[in-house]
Amino acid sequence: MRKLSLPQRGFLLFSAVTLAVGLSTVRTSAKVSGVCGNCHTMHNSQDGAAIMHSGDGAGWAADGTFTSGTATDTPAGYLLIANCVGCHSSTTADQTIIQLGENRIPIVFNTAGYPADALAGGNFYQVAQADYDGYGHNVYGISEIDSKLSAAPGNTRCSGIASSCHNTLAVAPSGHNYDRGGCQGCHFFVFHHQDNDEYRFLNSHDEPQGAYVQGVEHASWEHPDETTATDHNFYKGVDKLADGGHDGVDLRTTHSISSYCGGCHNAFHNNDGTGTDVWLRHPTDIALPEEGEYAAYNPVTGYEIQSPVAWINPAAAQRDEAIVMCLSCHRVHGSQHPDILRWDYSGMIADEPNDDGCFVCHTTKD
Ligand code: HEC
Ligand code: HEC
Ligand code: HEC
Ligand code: HEC
Ligand code: HEC
Ligand code: HEC
Repeated sequence: MRKLSLPQRGFLLFSAVTLAVGLSTVRTSAKVSGVCGNCHTMHNSQDGAAIMHSGDGAGWAADGTFTSGTATDTPAGYLLIANCVGCHSSTTADQTIIQLGENRIPIVFNTAGYPADALAGGNFYQVAQADYDGYGHNVYGISEIDSKLSAAPGNTRCSGIASSCHNTLAVAPSGHNYDRGGCQGCHFFVFHHQDNDEYRFLNSHDEPQGAYVQGVEHASWEHPDETTATDHNFYKGVDKLADGGHDGVDLRTTHSISSYCGGCHNAFHNNDGTGTDVWLRHPTDIALPEEGEYAAYNPVTGYEIQSPVAWINPAAAQRDEAIVMCLSCHRVHGSQHPDILRWDYSGMIADEPNDDGCFVCHTTKD
């Protein structure tokens, strides 16, 4: 069990209290279960042939076998049968949760097509295709370095090191990315055998100082068949204006999902307008007002997966604590739209009837 700091104890205590009074949000277990051999191989050998598979095309087939890609002797770490990309891929176009006995493996990359049932983070299928760099994060093992972006837009950190995670996630592990890169540029420390307070293993190299995201995880990663207006992910947000504007954007203190994106896109999350109400970039980590055009979106009762919000307390969502976040408009892994948007921006046309995307919040601009 990881040692919990005082604020975390408070958070857990609060969760326990809300559960006791019977609210619908349940913090689910993120731990893996099931037989070791589903995921680990002791000698990388079965009937004399290598078990481990990785590289192009590696992933789970519809019949639950894992034999595509290249059989390899290069260790993936922890005696696993695959690396991160391989075990979280499916060679189908439609399976996004692979059921293997007791195990359920969330799929982030379908190699045969963009799945209708993509999970919360979206899917890497589109960005893996040539000429679709803008449709996802370009990640090692899935796509080449982005042809237009040689750094994360809005990044001002680590800028001198071309292969640092702030500049690209599409290069092999090396000393410049703490021997991680790819998936682990974002999921820096993973904890498959633990439950802890970290939302979806989202943390950074400052994790020992408290840099991780909090939230309430939906048990099925928002698989469309199992997600409702009350049963979904609850992300952590903060109201950065409440403490005077420029403070409150550091992941170590906020644990917010937008501060997390700000780790590599920091200028997009800072409040760098000329005051607290003049913005250079669309605000994030600010409260969704309850009046004006925003009054028509009550995410407590009518949460919209297409334009979601974060919460000051994700374990007890309240209307006056709903927060605009980066994921209100973006997916993270990849989507079917440019700029990893959750919807087609070119379809957002003022003064034409539309309830989608931007109009979920800006209800009077259609
Ligand atoms: C569903 C997949 C899955 C199953 C089943 C599974 N593991 Fe793991 N295990 C992983 C992954 C992924 C890691 C990678 C590192 C991490 O997240 O800690 C891991 C890491 C480990 C580690 C090293 C890290 C640590 O936490 O100590 C050990 C030891 C381990 N597993 C043992 C086992 C044993 C023993 C079993 C069966 C009782 C088992 N695992 C079942 C997926 C699995
Ligand atoms: C051998 C298979 C296997 C490998 C290899 C593996 N994972 Fe996983 N991973 C799983 C399974 C199974 C789960 C689902 C655990 C659960 O039930 O919540 C999971 C869950 C996750 C989650 C979601 C956690 C949550 O809270 O729901 C993330 C993020 C993740 N893995 C990232 C990684 C990264 C990064 C790597 C490489 C370091 C990796 N995985 C390697 C099997 C694997
Ligand atoms: C570990 C660093 C890192 C983190 C954390 C990160 N990004 Fe990025 N992001 C990058 C890099 C590098 C690029 C440029 C290359 C690329 O597209 O992959 C990028 C590009 C993007 C793009 C533009 C895609 C394109 O190709 O035009 C969007 C949108 C984006 N990120 C959104 C987000 C959001 C939202 C989050 C938080 C959920 C986030 N990022 C977290 C590193 C990061
Ligand atoms: C730019 C940062 C970033 C990169 C790169 C990244 N992830 Fe994620 N991942 C996230 C975020 C943020 C979430 C939470 C999404 C949500 O809940 O809306 C997430 C969620 C997940 C989940 C849970 C399923 C879901 O869609 O919510 C899994 C599994 C996972 N990631 C695995 C991976 C693997 C494997 C890779 C590499 C192929 C990877 N991630 C690369 C940021 C990233
Ligand atoms: C209100 C919706 C919205 C929110 C909230 C939002 N974005 Fe965006 N983002 C967009 C749109 C739309 C585009 C593309 C067109 C444009 O920039 O006007 C975009 C583009 C981007 C790009 C690509 C820029 C480039 O140079 O190609 C990145 C990176 C990005 N966003 C990251 C973020 C991060 C990080 C956050 C949170 C701090 C965030 N976005 C919050 C809507 C949003
Ligand atoms: C999750 C809700 C949400 C979504 C989705 C959203 N916005 Fe906003 N937007 C807000 C809030 C809240 C404000 C700030 C209101 C305030 O403080 O007056 C805002 C402010 C703005 C402003 C004015 C900024 C200023 O300086 O006053 C513009 C322009 C804007 N949004 C455009 C968009 C566009 C275009 C989209 C779609 C790409 C979009 N928004 C999506 C909630 C949202």
